[in-house]
Amino acid sequence: MSIDLGVTGDFHVHLRDGKMMELIAPTVREGGVSIAYIMPNLVPPITTIDRVVQYKNELQALAPKTTFLMTLYLSKELTPELIHEAAKLKAIAGVKCYPAGVTTNSSAGVDPNDFSDFYPIFKALEEENLVLNLHGEKPSTDKDGEEIHVLNAEPEFLPALKKLHSDFPNLKIVLEHCTTKAAIDTINEINQDNKGPIKVAASITAHHLSLIVDNWAGNPINFCKPVAKLPQDRKALVAAATSGNPWFFFGSDSAPHPLHAKQVHVGVCAGVYTQALAIPYIAQVFDKQGKLDKLKGFVSDFGKQFYEIKEEDLVSKDHTILVRKEQQVPDVVSQGDLKVAPFKAGEKLDFSIEWKSIN
Ligand code: NCD
Ligand code: ZN
Repeated sequence: MSIDLGVTGDFHVHLRDGKMMELIAPTVREGGVSIAYIMPNLVPPITTIDRVVQYKNELQALAPKTTFLMTLYLSKELTPELIHEAAKLKAIAGVKCYPAGVTTNSSAGVDPNDFSDFYPIFKALEEENLVLNLHGEKPSTDKDGEEIHVLNAEPEFLPALKKLHSDFPNLKIVLEHCTTKAAIDTINEINQDNKGPIKVAASITAHHLSLIVDNWAGNPINFCKPVAKLPQDRKALVAAATSGNPWFFFGSDSAPHPLHAKQVHVGVCAGVYTQALAIPYIAQVFDKQGKLDKLKGFVSDFGKQFYEIKEEDLVSKDHTILVRKEQQVPDVVSQGDLKVAPFKAGEKLDFSIEWKSIN
């Protein structure tokens, strides 16, 4: 058995910098992914055109056959002029918004209770047909009668998403790595009666299709933000990913951390590393549902449609071929002293990928 998945895309990728980047950037292709949408949460975050261009060049040198789509980090340093300039240079595909303090390297993020300071940026994105990528969580608090915690942080964010969509109806927005039935229902509701192009989409990771709270409580390798939720949430995510609805597409949120940062007794880093086996992990879930026929839409067609990616934007047109061939997830991925634990380390997967050259 083999399935031609075409030119695949992963629309939420963390490749880091320095030694970690050298180790991880080549694994995008190993995981069966052709187009990678790169997150800007380096330290310090990427907020200038010079840095985003330089970062892309570094990634391209490490992974010559991967098409990189770049983003800037939403912060006070961005201006509408910078967005227009970046659009003119085709330096970015979107801007990532992190609420301050909700996840790894988000201390420079924004207050999701009041986005109004950033409305000029959103207007510029809307005018340029660029995308706003939202980390959709409210920061935890128990102040002023508000009780926000890791389990309700995403549902509590959804009114802010709806408000943004109604204030900027033509702005393309992605609710990244959604983890709850509430988020899935909201995205379906927004799109249900829409006859025009999709304006509000959601990305879904590989790991959230298999994890629930029990899998990260006590296992820091499976701890990420947003955290995996309850069985009914996972069920809704699997249904959405396999639905064939084009407003749901793949974004792995693969987020590698050095193994020692996952093994500390306080302050474990959030992030699950899935990049090197991205497509096989997802194929596993789709196969279990008897929905392998829906895989190409999720990992290939829908993301490219939403981001309006053209053939001429691709550095390689090679196709990803999914084959039913068992492989074992390594215990650890390493280069020198640097070690990263992959998702499902040591487990067997039923699928592998091969590449078909297209010139
Ligand atoms: C990401 C990281 O490590 O950069 N961590 C995560 O748990 N997903 C940050 C993010 O995208 O939230
Ligand atoms: Zn992320």
